[in-house]
Amino acid sequence: MTNSTNGHRPYPRSVALVRISLEIRSGERVAILGPSGSGKTTLLHIMGGVIQPDQGSILINDRPLGSLRPGRELASLVGIIHQQFDLVPHLSVMHNVMAGRLGQWGTLGCLFSLVSPRERHLAVDALGKLGIADKLYERTSRLSGGEQQRVAMARLLVQTPKAILADEPVASLDPARAEDLMCLLTDIARESGKTLVTSLHSTQLVRTYFSRAIGLRNGELQFDLPVDAVTDNMLDALYNIAGLRVEG
Ligand SMILES: Nc1ncnc2c1ncn2[C@@H]1O[C@H](COP(=O)(O)OP(=O)(O)OP(=O)(O)O)[C@@H](O)[C@H]1O
Ligand SMILES: [Mg+2]
Repeated sequence: MTNSTNGHRPYPRSVALVRISLEIRSGERVAILGPSGSGKTTLLHIMGGVIQPDQGSILINDRPLGSLRPGRELASLVGIIHQQFDLVPHLSVMHNVMAGRLGQWGTLGCLFSLVSPRERHLAVDALGKLGIADKLYERTSRLSGGEQQRVAMARLLVQTPKAILADEPVASLDPARAEDLMCLLTDIARESGKTLVTSLHSTQLVRTYFSRAIGLRNGELQFDLPVDAVTDNMLDALYNIAGLRVEG
């Protein structure tokens, strides 16, 4: 699947993204880097159809994103793990995971599933892959931040989109668990040939798990390169760091 973005997004007091033009090929693993406020979330939201650019267009498999039906069609192509997970805290883990089927079932089917979850095995399988199968019936609000992050990923696994957009999926985790989860996410993407676009702050994780890195600063593209070509100087300039390295 190819995702082409040519977007420009002004907000009332500033411009969030400036003349970004890029093409992501099927199966690529792309990291989006940049300081807080640089436009990473805005870019991912535009790629996933959560918000529309004020100028420019997004093509998925050569079709304008706006022409894809929001439910089944768009959900089968692109899925997002949001920076704030977007789980319903008072529902069980199983119900939150099964919400990933919303596109396939339609709203009525999903309401029905709140009473009697259909395709329960999908939730069990997805949670198993993420190592939290035992949390199936737990109230989601009782889980730790890292466990909730895994629930959000499990929800995406049952959605089975061709491309996963993950907004800082390991931000709430300690370094060891961040590494585990990033390994899991990239394994899942690799095994099923999915495209993965992830924003994150750890340059070490980017170098280990991604093939391409996009640097954003003040909404502008600073670099778009194979990971091996990204130098420490480029990263210092991106984060505007003098004498202080960002790692971990
Ligand atoms: N709904 C909005 N209305 C107005 N301004 C917004 C809105 N959403 C984001 N912005 C602004 O757009 C810019 C980019 O924000 P964005 O959330 O994309 O950054 P980010 O790189 O994801 O940051 P972080 O690393 O903190 O998550 C920021 O200056 C932000 O304040
Ligand atoms: Mg963000």
